[in-house]
Amino acid sequence: MMTDQGIARTALLNKVTTALEKAGRRFVVFSDVVSDPPVEVVEEALAFTRQKGAGAVIGLGGGSSLDAAKGLAVRMVSEVPLREYGDGKPVEGPIAPLYAIPTTAGTGSEVTRVSVITDTVKKEKMAIRGEHLAPLGAVLDPELIAGIPASVAAETGADALTHAVEAYVSLNSNPITDALAIAAIEMIGKNLADFVADSRNREAGLKMLLASCLAGQAFSNGGLGLAHSMGEPLGSYFHLGHGLACALYLPVIMEFNLSEAQYKFANIARALGHGIDNLAQADAADLSVKAVKDLFREIGLPKNYREAGIKNFELNPQMVDDVFPQFSTTCNPRKADAKEIEALYNALA
Ligand SMILES: [Fe+2]
Repeated sequence: MMTDQGIARTALLNKVTTALEKAGRRFVVFSDVVSDPPVEVVEEALAFTRQKGAGAVIGLGGGSSLDAAKGLAVRMVSEVPLREYGDGKPVEGPIAPLYAIPTTAGTGSEVTRVSVITDTVKKEKMAIRGEHLAPLGAVLDPELIAGIPASVAAETGADALTHAVEAYVSLNSNPITDALAIAAIEMIGKNLADFVADSRNREAGLKMLLASCLAGQAFSNGGLGLAHSMGEPLGSYFHLGHGLACALYLPVIMEFNLSEAQYKFANIARALGHGIDNLAQADAADLSVKAVKDLFREIGLPKNYREAGIKNFELNPQMVDDVFPQFSTTCNPRKADAKEIEALYNALA
């Protein structure tokens, strides 16, 4: 089982290991996963796995533990170094049997076919991709997210909403990803504020886990957009968490995209609880931005860099260049040039 020290110190790990013991399963625990897991941690876990003779992997934790578990499951059957996969080589063969137990409701990693591992030599994050990276099974249990801090519930929830909204309006979307995404948006609209107010609210917790899972399926097939491709460089240059970066950019990017997917943005407004039947489509679409801003304000998320803890934001031109090679950028419904990306970055200063 791959997890981190934070979880190993809580009763959470015990809950899961007790269930495994009851089921008569033999297991060993590797609890040294760190956030933005580096290649070295996966290699350390691999040595541990080989020493203990483990044949399958359970990722228990947030996005980092699940990413590390995926990396480990790849390396357990492949001699190819993760860096080669990070350079674009797809993971071809089956990987070691992999299961996911998320302890946050946001990444959707339990259904995605990607693992993000940090290359400490190049000092960059690499995406390892392949059909086989999707876990064989996942446990979505609200008991495992009960008690997470409000800030974590808010930021991971914002990530899930950003997945759903970006997948819904993506140029790569299709009727199936649309259905998954709009269902996730509605569930998040109805449950995120309750979950942030009290993460022990089982009903809200379960709905957020489900929404995050639906959104994960939507974006891993339909793609994302500029909130993600601009959030990535912001996160690396200013050391800002992924969910926070998404929360900052989602409303701005929705506004930027409104004209290109008006009908869908009107549907988002409806899914977030606004009556739109008597409104012109453009006005209904506008309401979707207001609904997201209101929700983010209600759950205490920042609306600009200063509130997010970035005192003096100065745009590094590299952050603009970093946006273009990303697949998410190609899925965004409105094309943006470098000047527009620059303006979008500076809109939150
Ligand atoms: Fe995300």
